[in-house]
Amino acid sequence: MAVQRTFSIIKPDATKRNLTGKVNAMIEDAGLRIVGQRRVHLSEAQAKRFYEVHAERPFYGDLVNFMTSGPVVVQVLEGENAIAAYRDVMGATNPSEAKPGTIRAAFAESIDANTVHGSDAPETAAEEIAQFFTDDQIVG
Ligand code: CMP
Repeated sequence: MAVQRTFSIIKPDATKRNLTGKVNAMIEDAGLRIVGQRRVHLSEAQAKRFYEVHAERPFYGDLVNFMTSGPVVVQVLEGENAIAAYRDVMGATNPSEAKPGTIRAAFAESIDANTVHGSDAPETAAEEIAQFFTDDQIVG
């Protein structure tokens, strides 16, 4: 498997609890490199656009409210098989199903306040990265 990039968000529940460094340590321990990173407070428009794919889901409104409730850290991660590797270290979306040793098992509070987001496929990774980073802001 070739080197890939994936997009990550450290969510407001984690920034609020000052967990950015602890999450980053788990990312790096999993062999992923943080090649782009920025702390930002998402606008409602940015959060709505980012989660557009879920617009018809009943949790969309709560999700947008949560993601705009405090700062997030947007990141580009690089490594072998990075998309699957990050999904492995994140753990299941619902923290009650996340395996021990994963970021969500360690830190997530609920299905919305689940500490991190990671892309699910190469196309979405490219699309999500482009929403927040220009090429010159990613240094591998
Ligand atoms: P994330 O990987 O950021 O992608 C969409 C988010 O919606 C997900 O993590 C969860 O935080 C949130 N969410 C809330 N309810 C659900 C649900 N029933 N199924 C999937 N995602 C949910």
